[in-house]
Amino acid sequence: MSVSRMLFAAVVIHFVASIVVLSATAIAENGEELYVGHCSSCHAPQGRGARGPRLVPFRFSDAEALRLIREPECDMPAFPPSQLSDEQVAAILGYLRSIS
Ligand code: HEC
Repeated sequence: MSVSRMLFAAVVIHFVASIVVLSATAIAENGEELYVGHCSSCHAPQGRGARGPRLVPFRFSDAEALRLIREPECDMPAFPPSQLSDEQVAAILGYLRSIS
Protein backbone atom coordinates (compact mmCIF):
# COMPACT_ATOMS: atom_id res chain seq x y z
CA MET A 1 0.00 0.00 0.00
CA SER A 2 1.37 3.44 -0.87
CA VAL A 3 1.80 6.06 1.82
CA SER A 4 -1.00 8.22 0.41
CA ARG A 5 -3.39 5.27 0.42
CA MET A 6 -2.49 4.48 4.00
CA LEU A 7 -3.07 8.11 4.94
CA PHE A 8 -6.40 8.08 3.16
CA ALA A 9 -7.42 4.89 4.98
CA ALA A 10 -6.39 6.41 8.31
CA VAL A 11 -8.47 9.53 7.63
CA VAL A 12 -11.51 7.43 6.67
CA ILE A 13 -11.18 5.23 9.77
CA HIS A 14 -10.83 8.27 12.00
CA PHE A 15 -13.86 9.91 10.39
CA VAL A 16 -16.05 6.83 10.83
CA ALA A 17 -14.86 6.33 14.41
CA SER A 18 -15.72 9.91 15.36
CA ILE A 19 -19.23 9.55 13.97
CA VAL A 20 -19.76 6.39 16.02
CA VAL A 21 -18.47 8.05 19.20
CA LEU A 22 -20.48 11.22 18.60
CA SER A 23 -23.76 9.41 18.02
CA ALA A 24 -23.23 7.19 21.07
CA THR A 25 -22.71 10.33 23.18
CA ALA A 26 -25.79 12.00 21.70
CA ILE A 27 -27.93 8.96 22.55
CA ALA A 28 -26.65 8.87 26.14
CA GLU A 29 -27.29 12.59 26.68
CA ASN A 30 -30.69 12.50 25.09
CA GLY A 31 -31.56 9.43 27.18
CA GLU A 32 -30.59 11.26 30.35
CA GLU A 33 -32.73 14.24 29.39
CA LEU A 34 -35.70 12.01 28.58
CA TYR A 35 -35.22 10.10 31.83
CA VAL A 36 -35.16 13.32 33.85
CA GLY A 37 -38.25 14.60 32.02
CA HIS A 38 -40.38 11.46 32.23
CA CYS A 39 -39.10 9.05 34.86
CA SER A 40 -37.04 10.70 37.57
CA SER A 41 -40.06 12.22 39.35
CA CYS A 42 -40.81 8.68 40.60
CA HIS A 43 -37.60 6.72 40.09
CA ALA A 44 -35.35 9.55 41.36
CA PRO A 45 -32.23 10.98 39.71
CA GLN A 46 -29.80 8.29 38.51
CA GLY A 47 -32.51 5.63 38.91
CA ARG A 48 -31.93 5.39 42.66
CA GLY A 49 -35.61 4.78 43.35
CA ALA A 50 -38.23 6.61 45.43
CA ARG A 51 -41.96 6.24 44.79
CA GLY A 52 -40.99 3.90 41.95
CA PRO A 53 -38.45 1.12 42.48
CA ARG A 54 -34.71 1.48 41.99
CA LEU A 55 -33.82 0.98 38.31
CA VAL A 56 -30.06 0.55 38.55
CA PRO A 57 -28.39 -1.82 37.99
CA PHE A 58 -30.75 -2.11 35.05
CA ARG A 59 -31.72 -5.78 34.67
CA PHE A 60 -34.45 -5.75 31.99
CA SER A 61 -34.10 -6.69 28.32
CA ASP A 62 -35.22 -4.11 25.76
CA ALA A 63 -38.42 -6.09 25.09
CA GLU A 64 -39.29 -6.48 28.78
CA ALA A 65 -38.58 -2.84 29.54
CA LEU A 66 -40.61 -1.63 26.57
CA ARG A 67 -43.55 -3.78 27.70
CA LEU A 68 -43.30 -2.49 31.30
CA ILE A 69 -43.26 1.10 30.05
CA ARG A 70 -46.09 0.66 27.52
CA GLU A 71 -48.27 -1.57 29.74
CA PRO A 72 -47.15 -1.34 33.38
CA GLU A 73 -48.47 -4.07 35.67
CA CYS A 74 -48.69 -1.63 38.55
CA ASP A 75 -49.27 1.96 39.66
CA MET A 76 -46.88 3.33 37.11
CA PRO A 77 -48.58 5.41 34.41
CA ALA A 78 -48.33 3.89 30.91
CA PHE A 79 -46.26 5.74 28.32
CA PRO A 80 -47.93 5.29 24.90
CA PRO A 81 -45.89 5.76 21.69
CA SER A 82 -47.50 9.21 21.31
CA GLN A 83 -45.67 10.27 24.48
CA LEU A 84 -42.37 8.39 24.06
CA SER A 85 -41.35 6.76 20.78
CA ASP A 86 -39.60 3.37 20.73
CA GLU A 87 -36.37 5.26 19.93
CA GLN A 88 -36.83 7.53 22.94
CA VAL A 89 -37.47 4.53 25.21
CA ALA A 90 -34.31 2.93 23.76
CA ALA A 91 -32.38 6.12 24.60
CA ILE A 92 -33.65 6.02 28.19
CA LEU A 93 -32.68 2.35 28.51
CA GLY A 94 -29.25 3.20 27.11
CA TYR A 95 -28.89 5.91 29.74
CA LEU A 96 -29.97 3.59 32.58
CA ARG A 97 -27.49 0.93 31.40
CA SER A 98 -24.73 3.52 31.10
CA ILE A 99 -25.11 4.47 34.79
CA SER A 100 -25.72 0.91 36.03
C1 HEC B 1 -45.78 8.36 38.49
C2 HEC B 1 -44.63 7.62 38.91
C3 HEC B 1 -43.79 6.90 37.86
C4 HEC B 1 -43.25 7.39 36.70
C5 HEC B 1 -43.38 8.79 36.12
C6 HEC B 1 -42.48 6.31 36.11
N1 HEC B 1 -42.55 5.20 36.90
FE1 HEC B 1 -41.67 3.39 36.52
N2 HEC B 1 -42.61 2.64 38.14
C7 HEC B 1 -43.38 3.33 39.06
C8 HEC B 1 -43.86 2.41 40.10
C9 HEC B 1 -44.72 2.80 41.29
C10 HEC B 1 -43.33 1.13 39.73
C11 HEC B 1 -43.44 -0.21 40.43
C12 HEC B 1 -44.73 -0.66 40.89
C13 HEC B 1 -44.74 -2.11 41.23
O1 HEC B 1 -43.71 -2.80 41.10
O2 HEC B 1 -45.81 -2.53 41.63
C14 HEC B 1 -42.57 1.31 38.51
C15 HEC B 1 -41.89 0.28 37.87
C16 HEC B 1 -41.03 0.44 36.80
C17 HEC B 1 -40.24 -0.61 36.20
C18 HEC B 1 -40.22 -2.05 36.68
C19 HEC B 1 -39.24 -2.11 37.82
C20 HEC B 1 -39.30 -3.37 38.65
O3 HEC B 1 -38.33 -3.57 39.41
O4 HEC B 1 -40.27 -4.10 38.53
C21 HEC B 1 -39.52 -0.06 35.18
C22 HEC B 1 -38.52 -0.76 34.27
C23 HEC B 1 -39.87 1.34 35.14
N3 HEC B 1 -40.79 1.61 36.14
C24 HEC B 1 -39.34 2.24 34.26
C25 HEC B 1 -39.78 3.55 34.14
C26 HEC B 1 -39.31 4.44 33.10
C27 HEC B 1 -38.24 4.11 32.06
C28 HEC B 1 -40.01 5.60 33.28
C29 HEC B 1 -39.94 6.82 32.40
C30 HEC B 1 -40.27 6.62 31.00
C31 HEC B 1 -40.89 5.44 34.41
N4 HEC B 1 -40.71 4.19 34.91
C32 HEC B 1 -41.75 6.41 34.91
C33 HEC B 1 -43.67 4.67 39.01
C34 HEC B 1 -43.35 5.52 37.99
